[in-house]
Amino acid sequence: MLSTSARPIIEATVPVLLANGEAITRHFYNRMFNAHPALKNLFNMGNQAVGEQPQALARAVYAFAAHMDKPEVIGPVLDRIAHKHVSLGITPAQYTIVGRHLLASLGEVLGEAVTPEVAAAWDEVYWLMATELVAREARLYQERNWHAGQPWLEMEVAAREAVSADALAFTLKPLEGQPVPDFVPGQYLSVALPIPELGLTQVRQYSLSNAPGEAGLRITVKRVAATATTPAGQVSNRLHASLHVGDLLRVGPPAGDFQLKDGGAPVVLISAGVGITPMLSILNHLARHQPGRPVVFAHAGTDAAHYAHRFEAEALLDALPQAAYHLWLENPAGAPQAQPGRMDLAQLPAQPADAEYYLCGPLPFMQAQRRTLLARGVVSAQIHYEVFGPDLFAELG
Ligand SMILES: Cc1cc2nc3c(=O)[nH]c(=O)nc-3n(C[C@H](O)[C@H](O)[C@H](O)COP(=O)(O)OP(=O)(O)OC[C@H]3O[C@@H](n4cnc5c(N)ncnc54)[C@H](O)[C@@H]3O)c2cc1C
Ligand code: HEM
Repeated sequence: MLSTSARPIIEATVPVLLANGEAITRHFYNRMFNAHPALKNLFNMGNQAVGEQPQALARAVYAFAAHMDKPEVIGPVLDRIAHKHVSLGITPAQYTIVGRHLLASLGEVLGEAVTPEVAAAWDEVYWLMATELVAREARLYQERNWHAGQPWLEMEVAAREAVSADALAFTLKPLEGQPVPDFVPGQYLSVALPIPELGLTQVRQYSLSNAPGEAGLRITVKRVAATATTPAGQVSNRLHASLHVGDLLRVGPPAGDFQLKDGGAPVVLISAGVGITPMLSILNHLARHQPGRPVVFAHAGTDAAHYAHRFEAEALLDALPQAAYHLWLENPAGAPQAQPGRMDLAQLPAQPADAEYYLCGPLPFMQAQRRTLLARGVVSAQIHYEVFGPDLFAELG
């Protein structure tokens, strides 16, 4: 609970933080990485370069300060961060480092506006948020039988398969005597890969695309090619170029708040491009354990050649008697089921009121589909989403 002396100060300075949040967090990362260069191995340097992680951190602190008395607003924000942190093995001790640099950055960026009283009030907010996160993360680590700070698992690549023109699926098996980590369909894991030209390890998340309970974990990686204005993706290209059967890959514990809900409610899966990966895990799981559960699979992509796992998805849908399939391809040649163009959910028949919706794809795609669902009367609490990057999607207002 925020103290009565801090509350009015926080209320008065939240707008200042919002206006300067990104400048503060950018300054913070530079400051922290100068003092602790090893932490660069944990953070995605691409997200730093394009400013997405600083934005995500600023929005999270702002959301917490503005809504800390509303658990229904702040709970999902904290859950998402805690899952991401657990997938990275973040430790409670690292909160002291982050706190020290974040709070110092506040003063260094905002100058005299940060009086000792303002600094003390924000210190209180940081530690309230950190305490909440550490508690959630401790629970998640315990559920996974994992200790914060322990070495990551080494898993062996048992299979490598091209599943579209630009995506590879890697099946990872535990080393002798180790169990296959458990997960819930929809979750992801972090992989750590040395990048010699950066002199760093880089970590990325990949959704698991097979069902829990199988002999290994499968991830599906789309190669992020260079464009006229952006460089080739560091980790995806290296995984494609140099990860082969028999190689070892370091992975963190599966995590993620995007999870198929238990029970029998109808499931509506809405994906685009490589956003199919968590949906495929859900379809595989339903085929094994709940083949009678009603499911709609709506997918969009550019063309048949870039439709990852197309034949697996279609075989699973054929095997699910209550499944409906809707496909949109910008170029539908070679896919008789596809409608030409972009996804239009208004064409779907109305779904039962208890249906749960799962979205995954590029941000503008998810925002558009979410708008259509809301316009059709779907309750926002029944719309779940996964963002393949820092979460800039959540409505924090
Ligand atoms: C929860 C989650 C699940 C995910 N699941 C999957 C999955 O199942 N399959 C999958 O393929 N991906 C998935 N991703 C995405 C994945 O984690 C990586 O982000 C993706 O593989 C790209 O990583 P990269 O290292 O190749 O690219 P990066 O090097 O991280 O680059 C990413 C983008 O930033 C641009 N960029 C980098 N540096 C700069 C710069 N200096 N200036 C301008 N632009 C720059 C790059 O050009 C590129 O477009 C997931 C992400 C999350 C968070
Ligand atoms: C109160 C303190 C903290 C807050 C509010 C916070 C907030 C966030 C947010 C919002 C994200 C993005 C989540 C997403 O994917 O949507 C994130 C990711 C991350 N956090 Fe934290 N965090 C905190 C503490 C820490 C600490 C102590 C560390 C350890 C050094 C840490 C390391 C990371 C890393 C490595 C990522 C992934 C970044 C990336 O992929 O670029 N965080 N955090």
